[in-house]
Amino acid sequence: MEIAMTHTIEYPQPWLIRLPSILKLKKFLLITSFIGAFITLFIFYDLRIAPYAPYKYNHFIGISEEAYRNGVIKCNMIKSNKPNNEDTNIRTSNPRFVPGTKTIVFKNGIILNGKGEKILGDIILKNGLIHAIGQNLSDDNEAIVIDVKKKYITPGLVDMHSHAAVTTWPSLTATDDSNEITNPLTPYVRAQDAINPSDPQIRIIASGGITTSLIIPGSSNLMGGEGYVIKMRPVDTLSVDDMGINANIDTKKERSWRWLKMACGENPKMLYKSLKQIPTTRLGEAWLFRKMFAEAQALKQKQDDWCSAAAKSSNGEQLNSYFPEDLQFESLVALLRGDAKLNVHCHESYDTETMIRISLEFNFTITALHHVTNAYKITGIIKKRVKNNITVAIFPDLYGHKKEAIEASTKAPKIFVDAQIPVALKSDHPITNAQNLAFQAAKAYHYGLDENQTLAAITSVPAKALGLGHRIGQISLGYDADVVVMQCIHCATPLEVYIDGIPQFNTSLSVLSNETSKQSLSDNIPKSDFARKPVKSRTTSSVILKNIDRIYVDKNHSYSSVEGNISIIVKDGIIECIGINCTIPSNLSSYEIIDLNGGHVLPGIIAFGPALGLAEIEVESYASDGQVDPINNPNDVENIIYAVDGLKFGGKHLEAAYKAGVLTAVTAPLSSKSAITGVSIAFKTGARSIFNNEPIISENVALHAKIGTPYKDDRIPTVSGQISLIRRTLIKNLAQQNIIGRVARGDIPLIVYVDSKDEIATLIKLKIHIKNLGGNLKLVIAGGAEAHMLAIELAENEIPVILNPSRPTPRLWTAQHVLTGAPITNKTGIDILYENNVKIGIGVDLLSEGRRSYLLGFGLERDLIWDAGWVSRNSKGLISQKDAIGFITWNLKEILGLKMRNGLLRGSIANFVAYNGNPFDISTKVKIVAGGGRSDILIDPEQD
Ligand SMILES: *[C@@H]1O[C@H](CO)[C@@H](O)[C@H](O)[C@H]1NC(C)=O
Ligand SMILES: *[C@@H]1O[C@H](CO)[C@@H](O)[C@H](O)[C@H]1NC(C)=O
Ligand SMILES: *[C@@H]1O[C@H](CO)[C@@H](O)[C@H](O)[C@H]1NC(C)=O
Ligand SMILES: *[C@@H]1O[C@H](CO)[C@@H](O)[C@H](O)[C@H]1NC(C)=O
Ligand SMILES: *[C@@H]1O[C@H](CO)[C@@H](O)[C@H](O)[C@H]1NC(C)=O
Repeated sequence: MEIAMTHTIEYPQPWLIRLPSILKLKKFLLITSFIGAFITLFIFYDLRIAPYAPYKYNHFIGISEEAYRNGVIKCNMIKSNKPNNEDTNIRTSNPRFVPGTKTIVFKNGIILNGKGEKILGDIILKNGLIHAIGQNLSDDNEAIVIDVKKKYITPGLVDMHSHAAVTTWPSLTATDDSNEITNPLTPYVRAQDAINPSDPQIRIIASGGITTSLIIPGSSNLMGGEGYVIKMRPVDTLSVDDMGINANIDTKKERSWRWLKMACGENPKMLYKSLKQIPTTRLGEAWLFRKMFAEAQALKQKQDDWCSAAAKSSNGEQLNSYFPEDLQFESLVALLRGDAKLNVHCHESYDTETMIRISLEFNFTITALHHVTNAYKITGIIKKRVKNNITVAIFPDLYGHKKEAIEASTKAPKIFVDAQIPVALKSDHPITNAQNLAFQAAKAYHYGLDENQTLAAITSVPAKALGLGHRIGQISLGYDADVVVMQCIHCATPLEVYIDGIPQFNTSLSVLSNETSKQSLSDNIPKSDFARKPVKSRTTSSVILKNIDRIYVDKNHSYSSVEGNISIIVKDGIIECIGINCTIPSNLSSYEIIDLNGGHVLPGIIAFGPALGLAEIEVESYASDGQVDPINNPNDVENIIYAVDGLKFGGKHLEAAYKAGVLTAVTAPLSSKSAITGVSIAFKTGARSIFNNEPIISENVALHAKIGTPYKDDRIPTVSGQISLIRRTLIKNLAQQNIIGRVARGDIPLIVYVDSKDEIATLIKLKIHIKNLGGNLKLVIAGGAEAHMLAIELAENEIPVILNPSRPTPRLWTAQHVLTGAPITNKTGIDILYENNVKIGIGVDLLSEGRRSYLLGFGLERDLIWDAGWVSRNSKGLISQKDAIGFITWNLKEILGLKMRNGLLRGSIANFVAYNGNPFDISTKVKIVAGGGRSDILIDPEQD
């Protein structure tokens, strides 16, 4: 897991600290008993056995015939067929087929088979398999025929990196079974033993079209353990084994792959450093790997020697020692024998090389390198040092939350593909919600993969890397009947998901539904791939933008090409003219003329989220402003901190945001657990210094607080205490001239990060209470996972909600009422808030893993435009494009009370982003960025 270390470096739990001393005691007892046993054995051996022992000390005379025969069986198994996915025969049965499942005939689909081929036609799902693909297909009368009317049919998506079901939703201390953190070397633990088949995540993830997942242990340990591949189809038996991809296969007869997880770099060393135990460095990590592999290698050698001795002595004469075995090394020996697929979590290029070096020293194969943030720089090492094609399982754009993840590049997927390194995209659920795996793929497409490579990265490539390329990840004859029907490849949610031929959701396209024949969904064939030529980034001071389709100025003003030719003229950073009838200036040579090809223009996007300007690497104290410490920094007025005092311009995150048209950042002080965190700042993301172009928009945007379990601390260990602190602080200062007094009287808002419906209700009451005392609290709810349940009350009391993230998940106990969207729920929370006229903003997506000690940013400011697009598309026409754009621009400005001039008015400083198409289309690119604290206008920005 990506963030495995964060909660332990900051707050080691007391029992973890005590662990070494318990271990020492155990070690002492163990050693003493060993010495005792040894002496006894020695005496016994010397007196009784030695005279008769033929060769060596460790050869006891005679083992039972049964033990001997068992050893020989094991030798035969070692020699027998290896797991095989190269089988080219078309499969005729799916071991997971459920008798009684009806045959399905899909008519008129656009079939994308996952291997880069597109077929217009029909598919038959029968006996749990893809039974036929072609034109004008039909089956017997029993079959259910569904006309999908030119919608896409793709293979079920395959996620090769998930921690779902070993960390369940809602997150509870009791259900986190991802890392056995008592020893950095636990190759012997198995995810299969911890998977909770009733985890609600399984359904939610399947609703995103994910049909198969590799569930693996986390990355706190060097050798995390064994993974397990499940289909995302809950079973009546509630059996984990029945969910397994190999359910009903006699794995003794039909050898199948095993999957191992290992990790290197920061996560293991940071955790064990906090426990004062090896490894605390990469030095220690590599040593431990070698030590374990050497021991596994020795065991394998002993087994091989035993087997050849047994083979030689087959004429009835049985060996007198047992077949050598050690359960601790069993999975590693399987790896050395080539029976297991190894998945390694690494980030730094040199960590990757270390793992490859060790794999060569000990002759094992690395199947997939996961994350490998900057490995796009070492494609040579990955490609040339090893014989197999290592798959890289990566994120398209997450980065920056820790040192080893800072050197990411959005170009990485394309670089790998060009180097003929297979690319898989994965969720690392719950780090990103696996339900949105297709969105990860869409982003990789935006940054350069082509359509075929993109789909392959979430279907056939991971399927092959799992050793399951003969069963899943393709729509080909004889493959498991796992398919997804989608409206379009890169938008919103699947219409239907079939696993082993069984429909998973009761939608209009499902055989479960009575609406099947009605086909209310409109035909919608998206336009073909946008021509994506490489461009060179440059700057200018004056531009004329023509051929614009739409300009969104603010809530009440927009221009459309329907009215006539609309254009924007910017002279030295100032809007000279905007709209229709702009006269083209005579001195044309001093302008760069940009044809927007019917693109859209919006005001600069506002990023409401953690860390921008305060931290480049949030978990590195040196590279961040630091975390509010509630113990040494009680929330007294004089201790309130101001983000403005820690602001730092420049850096990778701000640059990336600026280039994505995110021109304003609103950032609160970083805090771990403090209920009242401080005062936020609003500033221009492109600014280079405080003395240039007046980069500060507001020093005192709002007072921020956070309530809920993730923010409990030793001083205030209860949610009730957090709420009481906020109430007392406000009431005490109501008449004071300090910052809290200003908040209580409504000069600036109070923004509370909260998800629970009940906690939100309490805050609504607090607002009313303060009003009754003569105050005027401008309360804003941030987070707001369950806010839709109080939509009416929020609207009545004029309390806006900044959804953060925009697609919340029921990951917290206090956020279980999240609506996860189609095809599970009809609506989402944001739809309901919208219908009830609650003012809505969308904040930057955050780390979605239980939000342990603080809110972590992943550099997802760049996604804001697509987050808005998702909300609009997924609302089935309820939320217009314009309103969704408002969620990341003018609504936020209004909610936060930002006093900044509109950057799309004649005479004002230009502050806008222009796209070469509709920004909600994933293939559209940013064409122009103007403003954001820079006088230069950026053309064709290129993301790192
Ligand atoms: C994807 O594959 C199809 C079918 O092989 C091909 O026609 C199409 O050109 C490919 N697309 C790209 C972008 O390579
Ligand atoms: C390395 O392992 C493979 C099996 O995975 C085996 O075929 C090969 O002989 C081994 N090479 C050496 C040098 O041991
Ligand atoms: C690696 O992939 C290439 C195609 O990119 C293929 O030709 C080659 O056979 C593969 N090698 C192995 C060992 O699978
Ligand atoms: C379909 O309609 C029938 C008859 O109207 C009804 O009995 C049945 O429950 C419906 N099934 C579903 C899944 O709605
Ligand atoms: C734009 O110009 C056209 C024709 O010259 C004129 O009819 C129209 O009124 C003008 N519109 C505005 C808003 O000036």
